[in-house]
Amino acid sequence: MNRIYLDHAATTPLAPEVLEEMTAIWLGPGGNPSSVHSFGRTAKQRVGRARDRMAQLLGCASAELVYTSGGTESDNMGIFGAAWAQRRKGKDHIVTTAIEHHAVLHAIERLEEQGFRVTRLEPDRSGAVAAEQVAAAMDEQTALVSVMYVNNETGTVQPIEAIGAAARARGIPLHTDAVQALGRLPLRLHELPVDLASFSAHKINGPQGVGALYVAKGTALVPQLLGGPQERNRRAGTENVAGICGFARALELVESGRETKRQTVRELRHRFLELLTEELGAAGCIVNGGSPELVPDIVNLSFPGLSAESMLMNLDIEGVAASGGSACSSGALSRSHVLLAMGLGELATSAVRFSFGMGNTIEDIAHAAQKIATVAKRLRNMV
Ligand SMILES: Cc1ncc(COP(=O)(O)O)c(C=O)c1O
Repeated sequence: MNRIYLDHAATTPLAPEVLEEMTAIWLGPGGNPSSVHSFGRTAKQRVGRARDRMAQLLGCASAELVYTSGGTESDNMGIFGAAWAQRRKGKDHIVTTAIEHHAVLHAIERLEEQGFRVTRLEPDRSGAVAAEQVAAAMDEQTALVSVMYVNNETGTVQPIEAIGAAARARGIPLHTDAVQALGRLPLRLHELPVDLASFSAHKINGPQGVGALYVAKGTALVPQLLGGPQERNRRAGTENVAGICGFARALELVESGRETKRQTVRELRHRFLELLTEELGAAGCIVNGGSPELVPDIVNLSFPGLSAESMLMNLDIEGVAASGGSACSSGALSRSHVLLAMGLGELATSAVRFSFGMGNTIEDIAHAAQKIATVAKRLRNMV
């Protein structure tokens, strides 16, 4: 069976060039970057070069990138690190949104348990939070603002520049979870009014288990992992040398092809929605999320009257991989907190996320749309 992977927002296949770069390191002599001998020095140089390559592509200084084990750790490090540093100055208020990834939501819930006051902003029906809302929520005690760049469920882009400008005007640090923005939007970090930004390699055809946190020069941060002096005392632990080099290679690849890919993905999205609307009618598949801006790679669709769980199970049998709301520990789907916050109510129950990426062709998309329409019609006849 021709299986079609439409879940690139969950994780992406490793690019062959990344595997090649990492394999050369794994098969090489090894070496701990903290060791003083030649093996260690080589490993250290590799990490240093990867950091320089990434910093150049992201428009920041090498020293401003801290490597982590992924997006989750970067979010935790940025949020706890900055909030605790600000609390030393007597600040105890956090502004965030109701549509953040769980890595941010749960970290901020922990801060709340530790005595921080939290303001959670609701998005509008398109999934966007306005900069004015964020500005109005900030007060004298605000320690940190955390607003994601691109939402992982809907692809909605938040107005980070305007939010950052409002935060900068009040001297409040801004953290943004930019995990889904990397490779999709042009990022020049020094030109953005952002103090902390989280990234993850496996969303851009890099390895799983590697991430980075951008910490703008001068941003106070209390380290979360204690031990050795790695990462300029900001994150202890032996560096994942091959993973870091793989991340740098993946970023080079995604950045060099970003504009071409965006165009291709736009065409895929257009064809996908055109075919589905032809088959199911506009009322049979409703696009969730949108204005003011949306990344074309993520398509969140509600199939009114159907359950997302049955859709996903049947699509999997047909060879189409997509995803729904947040997975519970039991493996069952809970309704997405993002779609509920957007006010979608019942429509959230039937929402499925399709996300495009490397390897998807226009033929795959047409084939997948056909399968999706067949499954939706079959399930509809059963209800
Ligand atoms: C927006 C967002 N933030 C954070 C994460 C967590 O990243 P990681 O899987 O690298 O821990 C993800 C991954 O799903 C994500 O989409």
